Order: sequence, then structure tokens, then C-alpha cells
Amino acid sequence: MFKGIPAEIAGIGIFIPEKILSNADLEKIVDTSDEWITTRTGIKERRIAPDDMATSDMMKRAADIAIERSGINPDDIQLVIGCTATPDMPFPSTACLVQHKLGLQNAAAFDLQAGCSGFLYGLTIASQFIASGAVKAVLVLGGETLSRIQNWEDRSTCVLFGDGAGAAVIAPAKEGSGILNFSISADGAFADALKVPAGGSLMPATEETVKNHMHAVHMDGRDVFRQAVTKMPEAALKALEELGMTVEDIDHFIPHQANIRIIESVGKRLGIPEEKTIVNLQKYGNTSCASLPIALCEAVESGRIKKGDTILLTAIGAGLAWGSIILKW
Ligand code: UT7
Repeated sequence: MFKGIPAEIAGIGIFIPEKILSNADLEKIVDTSDEWITTRTGIKERRIAPDDMATSDMMKRAADIAIERSGINPDDIQLVIGCTATPDMPFPSTACLVQHKLGLQNAAAFDLQAGCSGFLYGLTIASQFIASGAVKAVLVLGGETLSRIQNWEDRSTCVLFGDGAGAAVIAPAKEGSGILNFSISADGAFADALKVPAGGSLMPATEETVKNHMHAVHMDGRDVFRQAVTKMPEAALKALEELGMTVEDIDHFIPHQANIRIIESVGKRLGIPEEKTIVNLQKYGNTSCASLPIALCEAVESGRIKKGDTILLTAIGAGLAWGSIILKW
């Protein structure tokens, strides 16, 4: 339950790579079809980052916009949280790389790993640093270059993911706005359901691991699907109930953009009408940590989300780690 100084998103920005990889393009690479991908996932196309861009570069571009829109002096940003499953490298943290690119000399920086729930976890942590009064402003980054960790021979995963980045500046809320509550959870019993098996201390890189695509995404899609459609509604209801709110109080529902069937099932379980649900996965696929900020930012830019609207965010990803945030824009 949120306690302390209320925190808000003071500015948000995104970076979307220009290059489009359509379902028709994928039909030429792997044994799949536009029909299968569209009906089973809702995805029509995804973006691919240029070869000379890494996750930190996309995060930096998104952050430039977020900081400018926030009106906050960059010197007041005292913490950078990098949320990504595709860091530039195992260490140093991608957050440190972005901190340097942005010249945020007063900011501490670290990465957090919560799979596709990274941005939601990051917003939660940032809100607590604001709530305690420890810092003036936090920059939360959510970015992915998932195209770099695909096995392009595995049709069950490579059609799902895309590249992109988002960034948000979190600061003390102005009257009536801000993060109202959050709920975050995890269960490592499902660690094998979604992972990149090699490249860490358990299975260091060898010629064999590279040959066997062990540095790419491995997923038991059905298992993740089953957990997603129960755990996201649970987290949403917990966050709402603690506030004494119901789904009726929600103006916009922004779920993690992984699969249209998951989104529809979660919406149905919660009783949220389709017209309140924000969906953009047809354009970008699953961008993991960039998914929520891209959907939120586009909805704000288009005028769909207006000042004072109440928004429900939910996500689930590798870990498994999942959660919900309720905020007033
Ligand atoms: O962001 C983190 C969270 N991740 C997710 O939320 C992903 C959750 N899972 C899913 O979205 C779905 O499980 C998938 C989209 C990954 C898969 O959909 P599914 O309806 O669960 O399909 P399935 O894995 O049960 O596969 C059904 C069939 C299989 O063929 P057989 O065994 O029935 O002959 C697959 O081999 O579809 C086949 N298949 C494909 N066919 C054409 C799997 N991928 C493809 C493909 N094109 N790309």
C-alpha cells in the first residue's frame, strides 16, 4: 500500500526504431504465417533496432523527451533505474551508461531485472524513493533490444518480440495526481517457463551454448499464458481493494502487451470493457520492459488519456514477476 509523499509521472517519452519487421517478412524467415501470428497473438508487425544502437541508446533517446516534458532540472534527478532484460552487457548496468550519456552527475544508477514487469517494478521503486523524501526525482527507463536475443529458427518465440524504449521522470505529485497504489509479486517456481539459459554463472558461454541457441529466449508459452491470465487480475484486484476502489473507477486499462488473447482474458476476468483497454501490440509485438511506457505515452500523446484520468497498469514476465499500479494522470 502506498504511504508517504505521493509520486507522479512528471514526464514520459519513448523511442521507437523505424525498421518494421512484418508477419509477411517473418514468413520468409521461419515456418509461420500471418494468419497464425495474428489469430494466436494479435501481432501484425514489430520494430527492429538499427545495428549501431544498443538498449542504452534507445533509452537515452526516450529519456531526452521525458526529461524535457517533465520540466524538471536534470540536476535534480538523483536516481536512474534501468529496467531491461537486454542490457548492453552483463555489467556495468545499462542505467550507468544512460546516466553518463545524459550527463546526470547527481544521480545514482542501477539496473533491475523483473522480466517484462521491469518498468512496473521500476515505477514502484521510484515512487518509494519519492515517498520517503530521499530524492527529488527519479528517471525510470524501460528499454529492450529483444531482436538480439532471438533464435530466428524458433517460430514459437521469434515472432513475438520487438525493440523499443520508454522513460519516465518520477517526482513529488502535484495536487490530485500520482501513483495511488501498487502490488508486486514473484514466484521463482516458474523460473524455467521463460528464460535465457546461458551466459550467466550457471551456464557460461561456450561454442556449444552458442551453437545450441542457449543465449536466446526459451519459453513455455502455454505455462506463461496460464499464469498471466490469473496473476495479472489478482494483482489488479489487490491494488484496487486496498484503495477501496473497484474496476468501475478505472478509466484506462493498460496491460503488458504480450498477446491479445491474454489481454482479452484479463479484461474479461476483471470486468473491464474493451473500450477502456489500451492495445498497441499489433504494431510493436512484445517489447517487454518498454511495453507499458510505450502504450502509456502513445495514449497520452493522442489525447486518449486526459488529466485526472485513473489508469490501471498490469504486467507479468520472467521470474515469474508480476504486478499492478493504479495512478491518477
Ligand atoms: O512477456 C512475457 C510474457 N509472455 C507471454 O505472455 C507469452 C504467453 N504465451 C503466449 O502468448 C502463447 O502461448 C504463444 C503465442 C507463445 C503460443 O500460443 P499457443 O496458442 O499457446 O500455441 P502453442 O504453443 O500451444 O502451439 C500451438 C501450435 C503448435 O503446433 P502443434 O504442436 O499443435 O502441431 C506449435 O508448434 O502452434 C504451433 N506454432 C506455430 N505455428 C505457426 C507455434 N508457433 C508458431 C508460429 N507459426 N509462429
